[in-house]
Amino acid sequence: MTAENTVELDSEQGAPVTDGTETRPTLPRIAMQQPKPRSETSETVVTLQDVGVWYGDYHALRGVNMEVNRNEITALIGPSGCGKSTLLRSINRMNDLIPGARVGGTIEVHGTDIYGSDVDPVEVRRHIGMVFQKPNPFPKSIYDNIAYGPRVLGQKKNLDDIVEESLTRAVLWDEVKDKLKTSGLSLSGGQQQRLCIARCIAVRPQVILMDEPCASLDPIATLKIEDLMQELADDYTIIIVTHNMQQAARVSDRTAFFTAKLDEHGERFGELVEYDLTHSIFTQPKDQRTEDYVSGRYG
Ligand SMILES: Nc1ncnc2c1ncn2[C@@H]1O[C@H](COP(=O)(O)OP(=O)(O)OP(=O)(O)O)[C@@H](O)[C@H]1O
Ligand SMILES: [Mg+2]
Repeated sequence: MTAENTVELDSEQGAPVTDGTETRPTLPRIAMQQPKPRSETSETVVTLQDVGVWYGDYHALRGVNMEVNRNEITALIGPSGCGKSTLLRSINRMNDLIPGARVGGTIEVHGTDIYGSDVDPVEVRRHIGMVFQKPNPFPKSIYDNIAYGPRVLGQKKNLDDIVEESLTRAVLWDEVKDKLKTSGLSLSGGQQQRLCIARCIAVRPQVILMDEPCASLDPIATLKIEDLMQELADDYTIIIVTHNMQQAARVSDRTAFFTAKLDEHGERFGELVEYDLTHSIFTQPKDQRTEDYVSGRYG
């Protein structure tokens, strides 16, 4: 990293810094490199058009338009309650499982409307995997955690190969290869999260959604997951929700900043404020609200 292509780091969360002479805190500087395109061609995988989500009568998230590129890591950031998890769940129809939840607008994955009348939500979730904040291995052996998805899909042969390949891709194989028959729940938190990522990729999804996947992990396990995400982006398209600005700056290619505001009836709702290359969001945000958030003045 050279002085020309980086900006300095002030603090882990980008907290405001003052020297007592300023009326406003200075904009913190997040250490990051100039963006390098991850792939030569940027093919759109997920297209969101005027997406809104209701919980009963409550219109929680409104008017989201964005496109997610193949083999990129896209970060969703914003204050608590602005609808990040709500949006993430709408991309693999997990909101279907919440009574009263309804998604409006259009969400296309590779040009297919995933809410189309002929589309099976279970099939959608196979192609669009999800990793949650708290690692959730099945109460089964490490082997069976990984083999579960392929077995459900009818795969009977080559399960050993799929298990080894998935655990290797998730950088867990060396740590577990001698205890594949022990429970997935016996692993450490960071290992469990890598197991969940291995389970997710065992069915070869087109997109991986991650909702604060490092929130319950220590810094070393967090860095391992971040390295793993970078590796996986060669083959997968990843959308990650994170509260950690440094993480968004470190791992993502593009960042979408959401916030909550009040409508004319005083009802709070989430909206997408700005979506751009991560470097632009953190160094030259166009919207004042983005700047306030990434600089730690708000949220
Ligand atoms: N199952 C639900 N039923 C009703 N309202 C919900 C439900 N889940 C979320 N909401 C509401 O939708 C809004 C967005 O919530 P969401 O969980 O998506 O926010 P978030 O940005 O992920 O927040 P956090 O950063 O705290 O995880 C909030 O007002 C929340 O109360
Ligand atoms: Mg959330």
